[in-house]
Amino acid sequence: MASYRVVCSLALLLITIPASRAMLDSHYYDQTCPQAEAIILQTVRNASIYDPKVPARLLRMFFHDCFIRGCDASILLDTTTGNQAEKDGPPNVSVRSFYVIDDAKAKLEMACPQTVSCADVIAIAARDVVTMVIVRPSWDVLKGRKDGRVSKASDTINLPAPTFNVSQLIQSFAKRALGVKDLVALSGGHTLGFSHCSSFQNRIRNFSSMHDVDPNMNLQLAEVLRKKCRKPHTDRSAGTFLDSTSSIFDNEYFRQLTQGKGVFGSDQALFIDDNTKSTVEAFAKDQSLFFGEFAASMVKLGNVGVIEKGEVRLKCASVN
Ligand code: HEM
Ligand SMILES: *[C@@H]1O[C@H](CO)[C@@H](O)[C@H](O)[C@H]1NC(C)=O
Ligand SMILES: *[C@@H]1O[C@H](CO)[C@@H](O)[C@H](O)[C@H]1NC(C)=O
Ligand SMILES: *[C@@H]1O[C@H](CO)[C@@H](O)[C@H](O)[C@H]1NC(C)=O
Ligand SMILES: *[C@@H]1O[C@H](CO)[C@@H](O)[C@H](O)[C@H]1NC(C)=O
Repeated sequence: MASYRVVCSLALLLITIPASRAMLDSHYYDQTCPQAEAIILQTVRNASIYDPKVPARLLRMFFHDCFIRGCDASILLDTTTGNQAEKDGPPNVSVRSFYVIDDAKAKLEMACPQTVSCADVIAIAARDVVTMVIVRPSWDVLKGRKDGRVSKASDTINLPAPTFNVSQLIQSFAKRALGVKDLVALSGGHTLGFSHCSSFQNRIRNFSSMHDVDPNMNLQLAEVLRKKCRKPHTDRSAGTFLDSTSSIFDNEYFRQLTQGKGVFGSDQALFIDDNTKSTVEAFAKDQSLFFGEFAASMVKLGNVGVIEKGEVRLKCASVN
């Protein structure tokens, strides 16, 4: 554990993804592939009907892609001989549903060959899953990203951990040119989806020498989670939804934070720290304020470390 911390903080010091001044464009494919967004939406919508876990997974996929090496679809590359890819890195639990992106890409290759990058497909899909579950929020996705050629499992150590406090979260986001408001707004992504027990186990048992349960966690929630996670070692699929309306994109996540019902330490910390508390309260009170800020922050997230010259992969799981 100690050595993990050392490696982790070293990596945090050394690896900074430059804030790219990307020249992305919402009309990028207007001439070359006008049907691109319709094809992606149709694929995402169909997949979500068959598997309701798809929306949350695609939203999280975009976050992970952009935080590691920038939004370059490095998360989609398969492990090859001699290289373990991001996909198979330690926090891989629940980043799945890659097949949806691969399906959309296969259809795009039929409609407009060698044109639409996998990185853009993820960015568009992440918008679609949000707008699909409710009419708002929506935003124009800027496009024109190229696909990267490198994907390393060891890079995933640079993702923020659910045990992070607010200073660590702010630092992690700042390295990607994302501010405190972006941190709070984007954490609202946890209005969708599910977590395994392993991601919040530390809060519900043996939290510290003083407290068995994290004192910042609502007691009823702690009770429920302890029951759900009774046998973490035998039932690896056990866990909980991240808010009480986990398939609806709403501001319930923030309302829960104000009641001590955030699932991760990193969620609940946002309501404790003075740097973020007032924004949490504002989003909890005003859903349309949250929607507007979430949309703006998703556009900023989509600019992180963008590559503008490079390849458009033919298949998202392998480099050309
Ligand atoms: C602020 C730092 C963040 C941390 C520490 C964090 C951590 C986590 C963890 C630990 C899980 C559960 C994994 C599991 O046990 O299955 C999770 C799930 C999820 N995260 Fe985050 N996350 C963060 C930010 C974000 C952002 C910015 C987004 C998107 C805008 C996002 C979207 C999601 C979604 C949708 C899920 C549910 C996935 C599913 O149901 O399969 N997260 N996150
Ligand atoms: C819809 O999704 C299902 C399940 O993934 C798949 O079998 C089917 O081919 C898809 N249909 C279309 C039209 O994409
Ligand atoms: C997660 O990564 C581990 C190696 O760290 C690998 O053995 C496992 O297959 C991966 N799981 C998924 C679902 O990709
Ligand atoms: C946040 O966590 C780091 C690393 O554990 C620690 O050094 C720092 O003091 C913490 N900050 C606050 C405000 O708790
Ligand atoms: C809690 O910590 C104690 C002492 O370190 C240990 O004996 C016990 O097994 C731990 N319990 C759990 C549930 O991890």
